[in-house]
Amino acid sequence: MDRATWSSRLGFVMAAAGSAVGLGAIWKFPYVTAQNGGGIFLFAYLLTVFTMGISVMIAEMAVGQISQKSPVGAYRFFGGISWSAVGYTGVLCGFLILSFYSVVGGWTIFYFVKSVQGSVITSDVVQLRRVFEVFVHDPFEPLWYHGAFIALTAAVVLSGVQQGIERVSKVLMSLFFLLILILIVRSLTLPNAMEGLVYFLMPDFGSISARMALEALGLAFFSLSLGMGCMLTYGSYVSDDTNIASSAAYVVGLTVLSCIMSGLMILPAVFSIGLDPAEGPGLTFMTMPAVFAHMGGAQFFAALFFFLLFVAAITSAVSLLEVVVSFLIDEFAVSRTRAVILMTALIFILGVFASLSLGIWGGYTLFGMNLFEQLDYVTCHIMMPFGGVMISLLVGWKIWGPVSRRLSGADGAAYWWFGIFRSFCRYIAPFLILLVLVFQHVRA
Ligand code: PHE
Repeated sequence: MDRATWSSRLGFVMAAAGSAVGLGAIWKFPYVTAQNGGGIFLFAYLLTVFTMGISVMIAEMAVGQISQKSPVGAYRFFGGISWSAVGYTGVLCGFLILSFYSVVGGWTIFYFVKSVQGSVITSDVVQLRRVFEVFVHDPFEPLWYHGAFIALTAAVVLSGVQQGIERVSKVLMSLFFLLILILIVRSLTLPNAMEGLVYFLMPDFGSISARMALEALGLAFFSLSLGMGCMLTYGSYVSDDTNIASSAAYVVGLTVLSCIMSGLMILPAVFSIGLDPAEGPGLTFMTMPAVFAHMGGAQFFAALFFFLLFVAAITSAVSLLEVVVSFLIDEFAVSRTRAVILMTALIFILGVFASLSLGIWGGYTLFGMNLFEQLDYVTCHIMMPFGGVMISLLVGWKIWGPVSRRLSGADGAAYWWFGIFRSFCRYIAPFLILLVLVFQHVRA
């Protein structure tokens, strides 16, 4: 089969960064950081990303590039039939993530619409909280937006690899970075902003816990789109001569940059307006309207921000749907259109349940978590780290030869970091991930 490819390395890096940078950085990172002690969590997150994160990213992209297959096929190709289970887990994980991701994606559309109307912009904390909670608890309204988000995602995926994903990723991301820079300046110059800045940047080493390590691990995997075959799938569209290691480094760098920028934009404002840092998943949506309220052109900036957040979210959602869809196409020879329609419908239905679990069905919990929280927990804290362990073991033990050959320079020479990378794949990443997973459950 002729596989579609990216038009250039830049196209690949931008699309992979488009997958990584999304709601993870702008929605999840700030509230998880705020719930877990601020600076110390940032420290744990950075440590995880720059060690395990980068190593798993290179491993995934390389396996994709060499096998030219989507996750199930790639694992089967290298590891035999039993390894394909890891691929299936990844596809399931993508499916589950997308169901709640699309709900939050819908929130970005809601806030965009309300910003255009000018009706959410206020710095009154009670009002900020009310807008978010009334909307999220409503049994119908969030479902329309969730439906719109997943339908738009499907439309992008239907238009194919190059034109669809690449074109959307390139231009608007740069504009988003620029806007966030302006918003950081505004946030940092609000009264009492310094308290938030200190909270975000100064680690309190006394508050380290196993729970926090697990959160950092989960967020690292989620924000970098790792451990479920997404970077593997994107790697499979890469031409043979693309340098994987430097592409991975760029993607990790851009993701970390966006997380830090998002923290600088949101946490000082949270402290300034007097919101509770442990507010939870509503934090970004409650805080940003207050930042705009303190700016000239509030409505314009608010609408632009939520539009670009929506774009960032959709480029990530596209990569999730792509994993699920390319699985159906490669494994069952289903047409692209059929695969997209089927999966979109199923994801929509699960998302409806997830959305309702934040409102009228909030009473149904398991282990103290509603469905939305469970989907988040199972994917980020169990499935993705598991995928990270498996891809590391595969590269470190089974296919180190072909991978190291592929990663070598043009003259076939090994790079200085090969030894470190191999130890990470063989021992360090699997050991640390398992340690964090086990410790968390021993304590709980
Ligand atoms: N990394 C994306 C984000 O931060 C989410 C994602 C996870 C995308 C896994 C693809 C795969 O928004």
